[in-house]
Amino acid sequence: MSLPEAIQPDGARHVRYRGRRLVYFGGCDYYRLAHHPKLLKAQTRAAARDGLGTGASRMTTGNHPAHEALETALVHFFGSETATVVGDGYLANIALGQAAKGRFDAAFIDERAHVSLRDAAQFIGCPIVRYRHCDADDLAKRLSRRRAAKRVLLMCDGVFSVSGRIAPLADLAKRLPRSATLWIDDAHGAGVLGERLRGTAEQCGLGQRRVIQSIVFSKALGSFGGAILGPRWLRAALLGGNPVVTGSSSLPTGLARATLASLDLLRTRLGLAKRLRCNTAFVKDRLLAAGVPVGDLAFPVFSLECPRKKAAAMRRRLLSAGIYPSCIRYPTGSEGAFYRFAISSEHTRGQLEGLVAALSGF
Ligand SMILES: Cc1ncc(COP(=O)(O)O)c(C=O)c1O
Repeated sequence: MSLPEAIQPDGARHVRYRGRRLVYFGGCDYYRLAHHPKLLKAQTRAAARDGLGTGASRMTTGNHPAHEALETALVHFFGSETATVVGDGYLANIALGQAAKGRFDAAFIDERAHVSLRDAAQFIGCPIVRYRHCDADDLAKRLSRRRAAKRVLLMCDGVFSVSGRIAPLADLAKRLPRSATLWIDDAHGAGVLGERLRGTAEQCGLGQRRVIQSIVFSKALGSFGGAILGPRWLRAALLGGNPVVTGSSSLPTGLARATLASLDLLRTRLGLAKRLRCNTAFVKDRLLAAGVPVGDLAFPVFSLECPRKKAAAMRRRLLSAGIYPSCIRYPTGSEGAFYRFAISSEHTRGQLEGLVAALSGF
């Protein structure tokens, strides 16, 4: 299997593809902040002063005021007890798995959890039990077979990135013992869901007490990097010799400053989240009425599965509407081929109408 054809971004809403400028509904930059002048300025300023990389881990000489400022801002934004910044979202999950070693008797993981969460589970050192995708009854059944486990961990994505499906956290939590911990990979929910954009747990009405969140900066925050949000024991474990924190270079300060700028934008420019919700509703309501399955109405992502013949027709249709054909086929093949669409706050009404017209009746 080879890599998909390279594409060149052209501003926040377009890409250059085979000599054409096409509207882009790919990626997960839900507010298109990766192109925002405030983030770009914060990044270039910090890079000019500090250099491109830190050249050291945070446990040696790579801890920078920008990392500490970002952790303080994350605690305020997400309302967690602590925040620990690492190099990216994949590493955030691995570090968390390592930090959780010996803390749980059994971990229950959604069968479609992100690969980084599945990899991280291997570090915890307890039996890992898979439950059926988003199925609280199946979770309860599997829990009942492990009554001896006193310290229980639930691991799942807050939002499943392929389908845009929001995990039924409230239902899942109800089935768990009261002392259980919920580890939510909120790569997609953080910054998008909930009244204060704190993520899937907020959207589902869960308090912070039992929740650990791993988040990424490369989706709603338009930057790059990752963080672990959780209780004090977790922060202590991460700073007490964790292999990821000790053994990898710290986040470049330009990215830390850019992420600070995006948190500030999400906090102060309430129009961003409002526009994202409005654009999501515009597209999903119309497609639903046209009989197109669009998944959870509250999240700006949906995917359409396409057998090979249909995929070619879909591609032609999108290209003729001036839309980049974002066909995804993971090498593991578990999901088959599908077209994934991410609506952003920055798409124009005309672009959204174009998408609806291209997909209606397909
Ligand atoms: C659900 C989920 N978790 C974790 C990650 C990893 O994040 P990063 O790209 O920052 O390594 C991703 C990214 O694609 C993701 O979709």
